[in-house]
Amino acid sequence: MTSNTTSDLQAQFEALKAQNLNLDMTRGKPAPEQLDLAADMLTLVDGDSYRDEFGTDCRNYGVVDGLPAAKTFFGAFLEAPADQVFVGGNASLTLMHNVIMRAMLFGVPASPRPWCKEDVVRFLCPVPGYDRHFNICREMGMEMIPVPMNDDGPDMDRVAQLVADDATIKGIWCVPKYSNPTGAVYSDAVVDRLASMKTAAPDFRIMWDNAYAHHPLYSETDPLKNILEACEQAGNPDRVYHFGSTSKISFAGSGVSALATSPTNFADLMSHVKMETIGHDKINQLRHLRFFKDMDGLKRHMQKHADILRPKFEKVVEILARDLADTPGVSWTTPRGGYFITLETAPGLAKRVVALADELGVKLTPAGATHPNGHDPDNRVIRLAPSMPSLAAIEQATAVTALCVKLAMAERD
Ligand SMILES: Cc1ncc(COP(=O)(O)O)c(C=O)c1O
Repeated sequence: MTSNTTSDLQAQFEALKAQNLNLDMTRGKPAPEQLDLAADMLTLVDGDSYRDEFGTDCRNYGVVDGLPAAKTFFGAFLEAPADQVFVGGNASLTLMHNVIMRAMLFGVPASPRPWCKEDVVRFLCPVPGYDRHFNICREMGMEMIPVPMNDDGPDMDRVAQLVADDATIKGIWCVPKYSNPTGAVYSDAVVDRLASMKTAAPDFRIMWDNAYAHHPLYSETDPLKNILEACEQAGNPDRVYHFGSTSKISFAGSGVSALATSPTNFADLMSHVKMETIGHDKINQLRHLRFFKDMDGLKRHMQKHADILRPKFEKVVEILARDLADTPGVSWTTPRGGYFITLETAPGLAKRVVALADELGVKLTPAGATHPNGHDPDNRVIRLAPSMPSLAAIEQATAVTALCVKLAMAERD
């Protein structure tokens, strides 16, 4: 790159600095107008309508695994039999955290001993991935092994080779549909290999965090093979815990979470859950059942979300293509659903890009957040979250990001 170009870029940088921007592309939260879509839910249960169809008083204790209708609803949501579904509180992250914590304390069915009694517990972490999964592993003292994430799921040759020989590898994190942060959807072949691969650990578990299962950006959605069935068919019925929630469907702070798993895992889970609660929030379950009615209702609702989100995602991709096309070593994903876009800079530049953007008043997710222990060895992945800002803010923030990519490259050269 010529010095002229560098000085041009620097001049643009200084001009933008003078604008004192204050933009934020870090938050994978629904925008207020998305939350407004479910506003009517708040009035669907009142002082006269707190019973379910069996007459259960939802204000009271009890029904620890969820209202029968909620189990049926989330059975359809997770594509699992209702009697294998546990309906929890507002956060699927809590369900995931607790599954891992109980595995550490007690083990899971087929564990030779509690995981905390092992000398070392390792977990596979497809990268780039979701920082809160990595935080759970770090909190529990697990060793995280990054494996590359491809367009159709994790690099399965690498995964299969690692788990076949190493009994300390107890599991893998997966966000199988519109993944955080690349938007990838796992192929049938990847699902089948995960379900059937030979694992040295008898108690290997797949943490199937299907957070974006029902979050398409387009009317035509993308299929995902049913992993619970695939595990059953492969003779490994207890291998998977499948998680989901309505956090980005109804209200991010007041949704309903659910988990589906094998009958053996389910019985084990309930034996512990009964110690920790006398029942989750059934009033909220009732609100959700009355609002969505069934999966057709939920899918119709999610098309309204898509109508809000799609222009935002398309704007990011449009600006990146306009400003960074043919920039060597730079690429980005074009998700068909979910909440994130991944931008890859040339190697070694992501942190500098984030710092430059920060100087211009544009907050980006810290570089490295997409990798275990906050360390992206190539220092090139940046997660963009277009859901929350307005379209105008997204346009400006993406243009600033693109300028910072070019400036970081110019500085390097
Ligand atoms: C992959 C993934 N899993 C889980 C969550 C959190 O889900 P919940 O609100 O149900 O805890 C998020 C939120 O960003 C996410 O991206």
